[in-house]
Amino acid sequence: MIKYFYIESYGCQMNIYDNELIITILTNNNFIYVDNIYKADLILINTCAIREKAETKIYNRLLFFNSIKKKKVLGLIGCMANRIDYKYYFKKNMLNFIIGPDQYRQLPNIIKSLNDNRYSYNVILSNDENYNDIIPNKLYSNNKVSSFVTISRGCDNMCTFCVVPFTRGREKNKSPIRILNECKRLYDLGYKEVILLGQNVNSYLWNKKSFIKKNIINKKKSINFTNLLEMIAKSLPNIRIRFSTSNPQDMSIEVIKIIKKYNNICKSIHLPFQSGSNRILKLMKRKYTRLEYINLVEKIKNIIPDCSLSYDIITGFCSETNKDHKDTLNLMKYIKFDFGYMFCYSHRKGTYAYKILKDNVPIKIKKYRLKEIIRLQRKHSYYRLKKNINSIQEVLIEGISKKNKNYWYGRNSQNSIIVFPKTNENIGELVNVKIINNTSATLIGDNVENK
Ligand code: SAH
Ligand code: F3S
Repeated sequence: MIKYFYIESYGCQMNIYDNELIITILTNNNFIYVDNIYKADLILINTCAIREKAETKIYNRLLFFNSIKKKKVLGLIGCMANRIDYKYYFKKNMLNFIIGPDQYRQLPNIIKSLNDNRYSYNVILSNDENYNDIIPNKLYSNNKVSSFVTISRGCDNMCTFCVVPFTRGREKNKSPIRILNECKRLYDLGYKEVILLGQNVNSYLWNKKSFIKKNIINKKKSINFTNLLEMIAKSLPNIRIRFSTSNPQDMSIEVIKIIKKYNNICKSIHLPFQSGSNRILKLMKRKYTRLEYINLVEKIKNIIPDCSLSYDIITGFCSETNKDHKDTLNLMKYIKFDFGYMFCYSHRKGTYAYKILKDNVPIKIKKYRLKEIIRLQRKHSYYRLKKNINSIQEVLIEGISKKNKNYWYGRNSQNSIIVFPKTNENIGELVNVKIINNTSATLIGDNVENK
């Protein structure tokens, strides 16, 4: 009989949220969560398929789980579910079940039926949101200050490099009432910040008739991301709101204005551009040009001058030349982003790029270009952070600094990390801190005074 389960998660913020969802589903069904693999009867591995590196790590982890002496039941869930060679893993008895991201509700039954069926496989993707009625119970989350709230799952874009539309299916949105309830519950539990998650939050749209009848927002026919943000910001003025990811193609002026209008919406936008070359953007099937991206950034900066900007970049996409790469570097130099995530291109089976284009940039060059981007970003981050010296920043205290236990660490509205000496503050408190120094990654603050 399986009673104790352990779960390990890889990949993005969505998977962290899903972990909490799964823990809630299983504990509601009398399974007991443990944070130690050796105490568990069942090990769940929540997977990521975005790049080959992630998959390799997970395959190695599976080998390790299989090497544990007292054999456990093993379940693979998440984005690798419909990609893995399940026949092989079942035949070798290396996995007992594989469940895709839209089927977590089935987990209790699948686990209970494992005595009869040795193996179980369900990777069906759904067109509707399957988890509207489950709010994560947060009992086992480490962070008690800030919480993710998924507002939509899947993605309807087809960027040619990306597996997400295949691993997570079509975009499905949660109802606004459901999202608001979840945020309210987090607030009641003492949370001070929610981070709204979606592959493309700006394409959020809800227009179910039942919702209109309730007339929650001024008789509007449907609820888009602007309306959703405003609804949360108004209803919960004492909670900070962040969101990710904004696809440049769907970012509207209305959203930017709402961010400006409400103090509790953080002034920070994650706006992946992937490449600064129009030719590459076209091959990636991103639906904006370099100029449109620059114009968008200028609009954001005009409306919210202190808004921070971050990005995702892929280096060495199919046929990327040195000139394309220079275009990316030049775009970075022009904007001087606050922060960025950068990756070497990984040719993923099943994607359009895999089928049609050639992964012809040598790994050495991909890595070299990545290094150049990292180096440049470090300079820009330093430049941006330096501008805060002598300013007073409002910091939400998230915990004790890892490097120095006499310091707190937290973030300001712009999502910059700030560390400052502990006096008598508490985790979860909002405090004003004077910035006295910085590195390329962190702002260093003074003691909090005049509380
Ligand atoms: N929805 C987000 C992206 C989600 S995936 C958006 O609109 O951009 C997160 C990031 O992983 C992407 O922005 C991209 O930079 C990176 N990524 C996705 N597929 C990749 C691949 N095949 N190789 C390398 N990086 C990839
Ligand atoms: Fe992937 Fe593009 Fe969607 S990067 S998640 S297909 S917006």
